[in-house]
Amino acid sequence: MWAKLQALHGKVKTRSISEVLFADPTRAEAFSLDVDGLHFDFSKTNLDVECLATLLKLAEEAGVVARREAMMSGVRINRTEDRAVLHTALRAMAAGAPDGAILLEDHDVIAEARATHDRLVRFVNAVRSGEWPGGGTRITDVVNIGIGGSDLGPAMVAQALAPYADGPRCHFVSNVDGADIHDTLQPLDPETTLVIVASKTFTTLETMMNARTALRWMAAGCDAPLDRFVALSTALDETKRFGIKDENVFGFGEYIGGRYSVWSPIGLAVMLAVGEEDWEAFLKGGAAMDAHFASAPLAENLPVLLALVGLWHQKFCCYATRAVIPYEQRLARLPAYLQQLEMESNGKSVGTDGTPLPHGGGPVVWGEPGTNGQHAFFQLIHQGRDIVPCEFLLGAEGHEPELQAHHDALVANCLAQSEALLQGRSLEVARKQLMDKGKSEDEAEALAPHKVFSGNRPSTTLLYPKLTPFVLGQIIALYEHRVFVEGVILGLNPYDQWGVELGKELAGGLIPAVEGGALPQGASGSTAALLDYIRTCRKG
Ligand code: F6P
Repeated sequence: MWAKLQALHGKVKTRSISEVLFADPTRAEAFSLDVDGLHFDFSKTNLDVECLATLLKLAEEAGVVARREAMMSGVRINRTEDRAVLHTALRAMAAGAPDGAILLEDHDVIAEARATHDRLVRFVNAVRSGEWPGGGTRITDVVNIGIGGSDLGPAMVAQALAPYADGPRCHFVSNVDGADIHDTLQPLDPETTLVIVASKTFTTLETMMNARTALRWMAAGCDAPLDRFVALSTALDETKRFGIKDENVFGFGEYIGGRYSVWSPIGLAVMLAVGEEDWEAFLKGGAAMDAHFASAPLAENLPVLLALVGLWHQKFCCYATRAVIPYEQRLARLPAYLQQLEMESNGKSVGTDGTPLPHGGGPVVWGEPGTNGQHAFFQLIHQGRDIVPCEFLLGAEGHEPELQAHHDALVANCLAQSEALLQGRSLEVARKQLMDKGKSEDEAEALAPHKVFSGNRPSTTLLYPKLTPFVLGQIIALYEHRVFVEGVILGLNPYDQWGVELGKELAGGLIPAVEGGALPQGASGSTAALLDYIRTCRKG
């Protein structure tokens, strides 16, 4: 199937996407899909009916259907860690799945999710009403200390759902750079601040160092500092060792991966900000996408199509990177979130059996919100030699009806970018436009090549009605499943992340050297020289 797709790419690669679109008035409809209010347009790509059918066959032969069922029913598909992958269970619980619907051996995953959810709701309501911590104190600020999946998910969702926030203000500290925690805590009052330590393992260096710093800060301004600390973790022995009261600990199962954990207690900061109802709407949005993913035929399955378009661009068109451009300022952290989701999941070289992947792993993902990106890297996207397929996201409506003109300009810009990428501007048109503006023939001749846009650059657009909690849930679950489908087709395990280990180990060995001790055995001359420079500066 790979060879067939390579051959098909050979046939379509020089074809003008624009001409195909103009020649076929049905293409926009045929190469788009509507799912529960979302509209995904992939007509501005060079895929044709035969390419798409072959890609679908590739998905079928890779066993996407069976793997999907295995994942959602609790089979331990994360073999290298011997874990099931059940973030979908958290959403199923919110959508009303009965206790017992998903069992992990004899463990009732739905009942566990419901019990934790109910505890979280009681806690959230107590904090939001001012009943917690008691004594007339009201929590005004929440500081979530975590990193990776224990930060990016809640930070991205909290920003995205800002219009729904009516609880305490949320702050996020992730970096071990002391500037992060310093600047965050500085304006806050320990008396009215709740610190959440979010860490699946409760051993992550950055998080634990920041948590200890926050505890010292709290102790300096409040009588019972640990009373203001909450832990979100699977490592209950570690939370106890830190001194966090059991009643302030919210656990979750090992079957919730870090970068898939925003739906779990890891989302507590968001829950505190938006409250129970909007949080549940977010979970239900995820559940709606799960139901679609689990039941729609592959050809009408949104995560599958998103994955196939991405694979087509990366593996057959050989475009190494993919840009995600949300035209929604409140999705400013979505590209960073998707970087972890995609690259920590699929950035691998060996398959599930440990042998080299025949077609390599997933792509580099990057991006920024529009319209800001237009004034930064779009130059390269339009005129650079390397082609970067763009994935645009856009809401039909914003949350500021009083600023309708802004939203209209946002929409126009998003649509204009995909149109410009598609159609480009020829040398003749560039020359003529210059002469129409009064340039001489020679001047036009000299300047025109700089104003040429090759066009024929692919993009997709995901439209949604408005960025509500439900819609955000749909979008995040869509991307999660897309990553899963890509992983199945590439033949890798998207749920482990051994590639983050080595750097962590070496950092552990280097800390004593940075503090003045000897360089660890085996460190390179380059690292020795870099450390020398730092020591010299510090002495000076
Ligand atoms: O270093 C990578 C990683 O393990 C991520 O997968 C994870 O999201 C992050 O670190 C944080 O881990 P934890 O929640 O255990 O602190």
